[in-house]
Amino acid sequence: TEIDIAAEDLDLGGFPHYMAKEIQEQPESVERIIRGRLDDRFGVARLDGLNLTPRELRGFSRVKILGCGSAYYVGQIGATMIEELARIPADAEAASEFRYRNPIIEADTLYIAVSQSGETIDTAFAVEEIKRKGGRVVGLVNVVGSTIARACDGGVYLHAGPEIAVASTKALTNMAVGFALIALALGRVRDLSNADGQRIIDAIRALPGQIKSILDAEPEIAEHAKAAATAKSLFFIGRVRGFPVAREGAQKFKEISYRHAEAYQTSELKHGPLALIDDSLPTVAIVPADELAGRNLAALQQIRARGGSVLAVTHEDVDFGELDVPRIVVPRTEPELDPILLTIPLQLLAYHAALTLGYDIDKPRNLAKSVTVE
Ligand code: AGP
Repeated sequence: TEIDIAAEDLDLGGFPHYMAKEIQEQPESVERIIRGRLDDRFGVARLDGLNLTPRELRGFSRVKILGCGSAYYVGQIGATMIEELARIPADAEAASEFRYRNPIIEADTLYIAVSQSGETIDTAFAVEEIKRKGGRVVGLVNVVGSTIARACDGGVYLHAGPEIAVASTKALTNMAVGFALIALALGRVRDLSNADGQRIIDAIRALPGQIKSILDAEPEIAEHAKAAATAKSLFFIGRVRGFPVAREGAQKFKEISYRHAEAYQTSELKHGPLALIDDSLPTVAIVPADELAGRNLAALQQIRARGGSVLAVTHEDVDFGELDVPRIVVPRTEPELDPILLTIPLQLLAYHAALTLGYDIDKPRNLAKSVTVE
């Protein structure tokens, strides 16, 4: 009816798709997750909802993160941040596999369940398994009062606002920022100095403005996406901090452009998949200006030598030398937080590829916004 159309237009706020709207909302939605949670005096994040005392926070000797799909990939980003800032062993696992391997639940492990909807059945089952075996689990959840949020012992709400598009964007960014807050809280009750805490706080505060500057480059990213959309298959590669970014980039691309996109560790290419590289298989490479930049560039050289085309998502100060490849340049933050910003252009890349191909961006075939059955 006419009324339905008008209501939908209103919700879309002039954007052609919810995904486009949600991508553009990120500067404000990141503001919301950090609001009131940064404590400059002590260089720490205040996360009262975790229901954990500083003493309890100090008592954990391991962190295990559980989520499905993109939430799992962002969990990997979170695990790396926690290891870097708090120096506690941390890893992420697909929640859908967790309870089927009779997992060992330890009292000194902090379990973190990550979910936009808070209704993903596999993640809810993982929470149930942890609780049944006496573990402590907190949630990083968007939907207030959802099943997972209620089942956890505490948590950090994402405050990303409603997310309608099946392909998640702003909720994932807030998950990554949420992990930065948790890593800060865990770090400051350990060896992370006040000055380092402050350095991370300042960087977190600058994120909304930096995200805005990436979004301003949309027309340029759209041109890269048109080229990427012509390929039948693509590689997304990265190392350490960049690998979960590549996984999430490939996931987003697959979901809405229906193109095969495979994420790989850049370091592992030469152990097999390099055999596939030719001029029909392009690579999207995550190349931050970190200690691995030189090694990443060497891998790109190998790809180019085999006729493969490369699109680099990188920082201004990475010196590509003779290597002539198109680049999407994102602003630098503190190295531990780089994955948050490196992921943003990959959302736009997937969106514009799907737009070029003419697919149903907000409701891709075969997928549901939240998977509530096994
Ligand atoms: C993200 O683009 C996907 N649609 C999907 O992988 C999603 O992240 C996953 O199903 C988990 O959903 P949740 O965050 O609501 O638990």
